[in-house]
Amino acid sequence: MEDEIKNRKLIRERLHDMTDRYRELVAYYRCAMMEVETKFMVLDEELSLRYDRDPIETIKTRIKSFESTIDKLERLGLPMTVESIEDNMHDMAGVRVICSFIEDIYTIADAFLGQDDVTLVEYKDYINNPKDNGYRSLHLIVEIPIFLHDKKKAMKVEVQLRTISMDFWASLEHKIRYKKDVELSTYCDNELAECAKIANDLDIKMQTIYNRVKNR
Ligand code: GTP
Ligand code: MG
Repeated sequence: MEDEIKNRKLIRERLHDMTDRYRELVAYYRCAMMEVETKFMVLDEELSLRYDRDPIETIKTRIKSFESTIDKLERLGLPMTVESIEDNMHDMAGVRVICSFIEDIYTIADAFLGQDDVTLVEYKDYINNPKDNGYRSLHLIVEIPIFLHDKKKAMKVEVQLRTISMDFWASLEHKIRYKKDVELSTYCDNELAECAKIANDLDIKMQTIYNRVKNR
């Protein structure tokens, strides 16, 4: 009986310790996410002074939920520990930057990546190389330092840059595909791919019109 009480006390202490370290890690990711969001806000401010229009429509941020984190660790067969989250999960902190035109995405991404406290970890260009289903966006995984009271800590942040049209497609496709936990029919896949093409045509048309007006 005494052994069981000791055991339960030990488990309780371990769980408390894990929860504390998880909360601390999430707080660090939140700080890194705020840093990155601010960098894009500053770029938008500066570029809007220079070009007389703001190239960023909206910035959305999110921290991966506890449930999604656990699901992903399980899916990838990774250890369920706080260390494993920090080592393996590159998308705990996410920043989505919605731009007006396709060219704005590359201008903003280049300006962001050129900053000397931003280290590029991964660059995936799903705009020039869309996914088979039609998904387009520019994905960056970066590492940036956060300054705590007694140390500097490098944190990873996932950045997705897209146009309004890419975001429209991705948001609705996500709702259709992921909310129902079922495989879509070939018909739905084809229709969604067709919508992705229309969204892309719209982006190209808008860019062409804008370039004409800009160069007048
Ligand atoms: P995960 O990070 O496990 O999702 O896989 P990955 O490392 O291969 O990531 P990838 O860079 O391809 O995509 C990561 C994120 O991009 C997802 O969490 C979504 O937000 C977005 N994304 C990627 N593919 C799609 C897609 O086909 N449809 C939609 N709506 N979003 C997508
Ligand atoms: Mg990923």
